[in-house]
Parts: sequence; C-alpha cells; structure tokens
Amino acid sequence: MNIRALDLHDDGRNPPASALLETVRRGLRAQPKRLPSWLFYDAHGSALFERICEQPEYYLTRCETALMQAHAGSIADTLGVEVRLVEYGSGSATKTPLLLEHMSAPVSYVPVEISAEPLQESVQRLGLRFPQLPVQPLCGDFTRPLRLPIPPRAPRRTVIYFPGSTIGNFDTRDAVALLRKMRGEMGENGGILIGVDLKKDTATIEAAYNDAAGVTAEFTLNMLTRLNRELGCDFDLDGFRHRAHYNALGGRIETSLVSQRAQKVRMGRSQVAFGEDEAIRVEISCKYSLEDFAALAGKAGLDVLRVWLDPRQMFSVQYLVRAGSVAR
Ligand code: AVJ
Repeated sequence: MNIRALDLHDDGRNPPASALLETVRRGLRAQPKRLPSWLFYDAHGSALFERICEQPEYYLTRCETALMQAHAGSIADTLGVEVRLVEYGSGSATKTPLLLEHMSAPVSYVPVEISAEPLQESVQRLGLRFPQLPVQPLCGDFTRPLRLPIPPRAPRRTVIYFPGSTIGNFDTRDAVALLRKMRGEMGENGGILIGVDLKKDTATIEAAYNDAAGVTAEFTLNMLTRLNRELGCDFDLDGFRHRAHYNALGGRIETSLVSQRAQKVRMGRSQVAFGEDEAIRVEISCKYSLEDFAALAGKAGLDVLRVWLDPRQMFSVQYLVRAGSVAR
C-alpha cells in the first residue's frame, strides 16, 4: 500500500539506517549493554504487541479497556467540547473509538505513531467509523518536538492522549521531560489524558511480562530479527533469551535479552562480544502508586485533576492540567 495515498505526514525524523546503526552501536558498546525500546515497533513487532494485549496474563489492556468502557462519558465531559485530540504512540488505536464516541464535536484527531503500517490501517478504520472527524496522522517519534498539522478549525483545547501506560517505559528523568514536552504542546488551556499502570503484587506483574504462550518472549527477540534485517547483523536467535523481572524497590519491570553463551555478533564492519549470561537491557515498565504519579506530574509542572480506576483498581487513567490553572 502506498503511504502517500493517505497523505501521511512524515515528520522527517525517521532515522535512516546509518543513524539506526549509530544508536545500536552506542548501546551495545555501553556497560551494561542496552537498546532503546522503540526498536520493538517494526511492522511485525507492532503486530506482536497487539497479540500480547490479548494474552490472559497481560491485564493492562483489559483493565484499561474496561475502565474506558465504564467511564468514557465522564472522561469526555472532563475534556469538554471542540477538542483537538493528539494521541502519542497510537499504534492500532484500539481504545481511541471508546473515547471519540463520547466526545462532543471534536475538531480533529492526530495520531502520532513511529510504525507506518498500524498508523495507515488505523486511519482507514477510524475514517469509516467516524466519517465526520478530520484525521491528521503524523508518522514519527513522539519523544521529539512535533510539528502538529494545522487543525481544520480552532479547537477550544488540545488534549494529548497517552494510553497504555507507555509512560512506564521512561525512567523518572525522561518521563518528566516527556510530560514537560506535552505540557508545552497542549498549550495554556490544554490537558493530558494518560494511562498509568499501578503497583500491585509481584506475581501478577511478572506474569504479564512472561505470558505462558511465549508471545512476549517472541516480541522481545524480534528486536534482534529487526537488527539482522535492517543492519545486516547476525544475531543467532537461539543464542539469546527473553528475561523480565520485577524490581520491587524500583517499582518496575526490567526486560533484557540474555546471551546464552559467549559469542560474537557482527555490527556493521566490526563485532560485538557477549559473555555467557550477559544481558542487553531493552525495556523498563514502571508501575506507580497514585501518590508516585502525582509527584512525577508535579515535577513536570502538572496537576492531576481527575483519576479513573477499573473495578479491581489495577490500572488508572488520569487527567493532567498545568499546575495552578484550575481554581480550587
Ligand atoms: C506498550 C509500553 C505499555 O510496557 O507494558 C508489553 C510494552 N512490553 N509487554 C508495556 C510491552 C512487553 C508495554 N507498553
């Protein structure tokens, strides 16, 4: 399918192979070795993530969906009328219709997604479902400054929608920086609607990242398949395994690819050596208490205006505004 046919705005920041090679080279030369989690989301990785969401152990999506189904009306009322909705990391945008359905006269919907395939597919699907709604997709990295498309008419406010607890993939410093960037992009009167996974018992959290069907392990290992294809590396997929462990002190899942033996892997013109049991850190997924998250928002100059929870209080959706912008 031709991406131009959909008039997808590429933000011009999708890394060329050389930039990708530099990122990977730097990460694999660091100590401990690390690779950024956005590397998961090539077309196959995005499809695998959708399958993770269907696994019985991965409670996050089910809880967030149930929460949205139960509270979409009250959430839409909180956002108000004539909103421009900007979704960060929209992926297949499966939860977005639950919200759009209840919004009153939305001005436009701007999905921002690094992976072109799910972006195209979701734009088509939403177009059929909401024929009146202007959709202005942006293909790119939401952690970079965004050049938002000009809306078809003036919105009353811009709301940045960031579901799925993707904020958990950022350490404190980067999370504060990202929330600050959103605070700028939404403007004076704007808001942030964000999904935040909550702290709970270790067994429940660890199971979510170690599903019995092995889909998460496949998702993690797909990062190496991608590097083999796009950078001509020669990672042996049987030479590495997925490991996800809950660090209760840090309140986060730490996911690694662990080398099963001492081995060398081709990396451009050079090689990278791995020791037996040496890990590449590929992802963190932070879990928050409501207090933790309010403090994090505070560091970014934001107040938590409202919190919605699923019936089992596993997951939260929160509405943030600029600190001090609402008289109380
Ligand atoms: C999409 C970032 C929210 O961290 O839970 C799922 C990604 N990684 N299983 C998460 C993921 C492994 C997911 N987020």
